[in-house]
Amino acid sequence: MEVFTYLIPYGLEWLNLIVRWLHVITGIAWIGASFYFVWLDNSIRPPAPGSDLAKKGVSGELWAVHGGGFYNPQKYLVAPAELPKELHWFKWEAYTTWLSGIALLTIAYYFNAQAMMIDKSVADISSGQAIAIGIATLVIGWIVYDLLCRSPLAKHELWFGVTVFALIVAAAYVLTHLLSGRAAYIHVGAMIGTIMVANVLMLIIPGQRKMVEAMAAGKLPDPRHGQKAKQRSVHNNYFTLPVLFIMISNHYAMTYRNDHAWLVLAMIMAAGVFIRHFFNLRHKGRVEWRYPVIGVALLIAVAVAIAPKAPAPVAAAPVSDAAAQFVSAQAIIMQRCATCHSAHPTQPGFATAPSGIMLDSEPLIRQHAAQIYKQAIELKAMPIGNLTNMTEAERTQLGAWLQQTLQGAK
Ligand code: HEC
Repeated sequence: MEVFTYLIPYGLEWLNLIVRWLHVITGIAWIGASFYFVWLDNSIRPPAPGSDLAKKGVSGELWAVHGGGFYNPQKYLVAPAELPKELHWFKWEAYTTWLSGIALLTIAYYFNAQAMMIDKSVADISSGQAIAIGIATLVIGWIVYDLLCRSPLAKHELWFGVTVFALIVAAAYVLTHLLSGRAAYIHVGAMIGTIMVANVLMLIIPGQRKMVEAMAAGKLPDPRHGQKAKQRSVHNNYFTLPVLFIMISNHYAMTYRNDHAWLVLAMIMAAGVFIRHFFNLRHKGRVEWRYPVIGVALLIAVAVAIAPKAPAPVAAAPVSDAAAQFVSAQAIIMQRCATCHSAHPTQPGFATAPSGIMLDSEPLIRQHAAQIYKQAIELKAMPIGNLTNMTEAERTQLGAWLQQTLQGAK
């Protein structure tokens, strides 16, 4: 039966790979199409008054060249006089991105909540509780956002934006005080992604369907449907950059392994919104450099604020001490790290060495010394979820040896 204990995690790793691949592909298709249509909307110019186009009801058009052909998209104020035979919809990109995202969340986080979602130094909760908090975040996020959109506040674009941003930051604050930083971040991202897809499913597509139905019945479509869909699609546009950062954030423990991880996230998300705003204005012909300047300033401020402190220099140990120090450092690594980081992990749920990093021999430990220092001493991101119960005393001891080794290497 031992075969199953490693074949199952191995199979899950392949499932993880396939689903992640799909998620990235559909995400690119969705956000790519969405960026294109926002650009289109902002770049079209009205036809000359009295021209044939204007008489047909075209409110804007543009010319573009791409892939060896000329394109001439035209936007109708409400709808063309006649329903075209073939009409392209854009929805499966969004739905598939969400479905594959939820599958990935389940495979990568919910199937291994102990390692991926729980940080006992943050909150000592069970796997079931962690998963329930994760799922509740997605549901509550959508309900609160949707209610806000239907409230009078939604008419004041700026204040609405500030409120939604503040609520997302509040969610980040709560989550970073319940889950591991990494799981907290990914759930903020999944919450925003869920809002974006629900906007497509519940508002944008039904609104368009009503417009098309009205036309099929020979009536003029109610422009309010278009306006409501437009409002949601503008929100989605500002969500994109923050969400995309969160989706890659798990590679950057320096952001989520931090006492103020929620604030770091808030500042990086705000930078994304300002930079997106710059591009939206630029498509309309307004170049306002202050927005990207604010965005970049925010990123620099975060980078400075979370910069690691230089470790205090340690006196070099005499040679015999150094040898003894290595022996105890290696013992700590074998016990606390090599259960996962070896060619044949013994930790349940791990089939192969995570990130390909093996730490079960002296040359490998020396080779990865800088990374070990960063992950286990500086960020305390490892052992993941502190599953192997590494103590503070062990970190200090391992840290002392690593510092000596790294100083000696210079
Ligand atoms: C329970 C299993 C487990 C244990 C124990 C563990 N790790 Fe990891 N480690 C992981 C996983 C999972 C990843 C991959 C994280 C990711 O996907 O970003 C990882 C990644 C790493 C990385 C690469 C990080 C990067 O982004 O480049 C380093 C370095 C590392 N671990 C060091 C350690 C050290 C040092 C210890 C012991 C103090 C340790 N790990 C203990 C599971 C573990």
